[in-house]
Amino acid sequence: MTASVIDGKAFAAKVREKVAAHVAHLTAEHGITPGLAVVLVGEDPASQVYVRSKGKQTLEVGMESFEHRLAADTPEADLLALIDRLNVDPAVHGILVQLPLPDHMNADLVINAIDPAKDVDGFHISNVGLLGTGQKSMVPCTPLGSLMMLRDQLGDLSGLNAVVLGRSNIVGKPMAQLLLGDSCTVTIAHSRTRDLPGVVRAADIVVAAVGRPEMVPGDWIKPGATVIDVGINRLPPDEEGGKGRLVGDCHYASCAEVAGAITPVPGGVGPMTIACLLANTVTACCRAAGLAEPEGLTA
Ligand code: GUN
Repeated sequence: MTASVIDGKAFAAKVREKVAAHVAHLTAEHGITPGLAVVLVGEDPASQVYVRSKGKQTLEVGMESFEHRLAADTPEADLLALIDRLNVDPAVHGILVQLPLPDHMNADLVINAIDPAKDVDGFHISNVGLLGTGQKSMVPCTPLGSLMMLRDQLGDLSGLNAVVLGRSNIVGKPMAQLLLGDSCTVTIAHSRTRDLPGVVRAADIVVAAVGRPEMVPGDWIKPGATVIDVGINRLPPDEEGGKGRLVGDCHYASCAEVAGAITPVPGGVGPMTIACLLANTVTACCRAAGLAEPEGLTA
């Protein structure tokens, strides 16, 4: 079997179109423009790239973008004071504090200072608890994007065996909760899992989010399974001195020979993350205003 390729770039473009249409409706009919505030502390190069991209895409869908860049040595109290101001700012419907934060800051404290209704990352402890108990919450963007692609590919996920590789708070754990919410039989596998190949071979759905380049070979994949590769890993530079290739957590060529469908890296899950951040911002805006939420953009 040769897998069909799940085009995350095209899917993300459709999500952004839906977001833009809803933003236009909110602005025209209700005089409300959703606003997203992104806070970056320090000069981490990868974070700078993400933040720039978030700001650009926010404006492209017609939303307001508020960027706050703080020096790496900013006292934690100053960041908390900024979050307090954003929490009460009526023009701000979503707040994202880019991670990682500098070492002198307590990320849990900072995240939990965000108003849960504006926590478009879905990292606040209240949102984690709401998701875990099947209540309406803000859902972390990468798992939400992965779930959208799985539903689009497979329809009803009920009863399917799903394996999530990785137990991070950002991807693995919320992904498992979402799959459970869609009535999958869910296994979370991690570095201590025994017989990992056997566990993965039993799965109709594999979500790989471990951050280890090409860790999952094709002979672990059940024929016809759907593979969502969340990993974005850069291989070491080649001999000509060029930048190393980007690869996922799955060995693409061998997995694509066996799987029914697979997301490529790049161009799979990656583009969905920011698209879902925009979707969460519109959702947060609608909830704050007591208006109907856009369809198909939430879990
Ligand atoms: N750093 C890497 N990924 C993320 C994310 O999804 N949200 C935030 N806030 N920071 C990140």
